Amino acid sequence: MNHPPKQAVHDCLHPAEKIREMFGDVVSRYDMLNTALSLGMDALWRNALVKQVLSTRPKNILDAASGTGEVALHLLKKAPLETSVLALDFCQPMLSAFLKKISHAQPTRHQNLSIVLGDAMRLPCKNSSFDAITVAFGLRNFPDRAMFFAEARRALKSGGHLHILEFSQPPTWAAPFYFFYLKNFLPRAAEIVSSNGSAYRYLADSIAAFPNKKELSCEMEKAGFKAVSFSSFSAGAVALHGARNP
Ligand SMILES: C[S@@+](CC[C@H](N)C(=O)[O-])C[C@H]1O[C@@H](n2cnc3c(N)ncnc32)[C@H](O)[C@@H]1O
Repeated sequence: MNHPPKQAVHDCLHPAEKIREMFGDVVSRYDMLNTALSLGMDALWRNALVKQVLSTRPKNILDAASGTGEVALHLLKKAPLETSVLALDFCQPMLSAFLKKISHAQPTRHQNLSIVLGDAMRLPCKNSSFDAITVAFGLRNFPDRAMFFAEARRALKSGGHLHILEFSQPPTWAAPFYFFYLKNFLPRAAEIVSSNGSAYRYLADSIAAFPNKKELSCEMEKAGFKAVSFSSFSAGAVALHGARNP
């Protein structure tokens, strides 16, 4: 199977406003579709992220592109009591779904949680504010990764860590199956369940346009991060990147 050249795919990516609208449109079934279309593996990927984040013992964490708060809530559940989490997203409907979720949950740890409407490209915080920043399945949607990395470095304390969980390119042998699933099965399944196949066609296109694990690691090093590393899950379809702010 032939894949479109990266530039061609990039040309048809949605600008920020359309991305915000698109997430607003899928919000009602977002969590359910994540679990169904990843065959339940999304929880394992987020577990791995949370484990990696907490291994560096951060006291305050920014979860950028937090969406419905799956990562932020998981962090709060597993972290020591004094850890605080600031969840940021630029899509109000996603944050409303997050707020609705916590209004039904046990309120035990929510005093350590702040939820903020804001753009990850202009983080609403002072320099050197956080011990850790997480981005799960958000970076692919950002208009300028170099700008986000510079912003993350500004917001992180010296010695703080950036953790990125994101879809990635599988090895060559698996790519035809993977892209067939992404481009054919996934949008149709999403169309049936949520009447929103276009958001899932965007998902396939944005994954195809996204750098592979080594390319993304190089971008992080170029941005000045140290100890850049990654691990792969689900035959390389998902990657967990980590890096330290010097
Ligand atoms: C695929 S969802 C991921 C949500 C969540 N992190 C998770 O793991 O389920 C991507 C999220 O990124 C948000 N997003 C995209 N671009 C953003 C930006 N520039 N600033 C803040 N949030 C952004 C979207 O609104 C959406 O909620």
